[in-house]
Amino acid sequence: MKIIIAKDYEELSQKAFEVMAAVLDQNPNAVLGLATGSTPVGLYEKMAEDHRKTGRSYKGVSAFNLDEYVGLSADNDQSYRYFMRKNLFDKIDIDLNKTEIENGLAPVAEEECLRYNALLAKTPRDIQLLGIGANGHIAFNEPGTPFDTETHVVDLTQNTIEMNARFFKDISEVPRRAFTMGPKNIMDARRILILASGANKADAVYGMVKGTVTEDLPASILQRHPDCVLIADKEAAARL
Ligand code: GLP
Repeated sequence: MKIIIAKDYEELSQKAFEVMAAVLDQNPNAVLGLATGSTPVGLYEKMAEDHRKTGRSYKGVSAFNLDEYVGLSADNDQSYRYFMRKNLFDKIDIDLNKTEIENGLAPVAEEECLRYNALLAKTPRDIQLLGIGANGHIAFNEPGTPFDTETHVVDLTQNTIEMNARFFKDISEVPRRAFTMGPKNIMDARRILILASGANKADAVYGMVKGTVTEDLPASILQRHPDCVLIADKEAAARL
């Protein structure tokens, strides 16, 4: 794993943008794996700014998101589909028909997982962006998820529900279940870019980089990826 330590969130976002821009420079029709959460917001701002200033086009780009809450529609302002439009897709010229995410309202969850896995299998991602949970989760793969798992539905842990409650009016509104790509889908991407910001991520980052590879810390699987870049700010990298 290549490790880049940034002095602050602004530098982290700039360096992440440089990694993303290199992929897009090489292939204007790149397939991007994208992520939600607060950490990638700065990167998405840089991508939008670059699009405004340089006219870089995303018309040929396709995007796959990692995860989506079960039970939320695409226009619910807490859905990850909505988050992606607000923070990135509505600010660049990507074709929304080429942006994929699990359907939170799919009537049969197992069928939705199969549909998403099939799409992922036939559309290899050039890069997969990730954040990391304070307990070492990636996407919504909580500790204990077998590494060979593909897209599935998870019951969110109390810890994750509490962490994500900050985005909702009340913790009771946080969905209890979510669709998520599994560790296996994540590892299938050609390149991985994982971002970590803030002191509450320091233990997870340490475990991911220096700990044993274990399903108890899902992000540790990234040690086995041949082309993984971690960009962490000083706080998140404090224990490295
Ligand atoms: C959520 C998301 C993850 C994200 C994590 C960290 O649970 N499903 O994909 O990486 O939270 O979020 P944040 O970047 O807001 O710390």
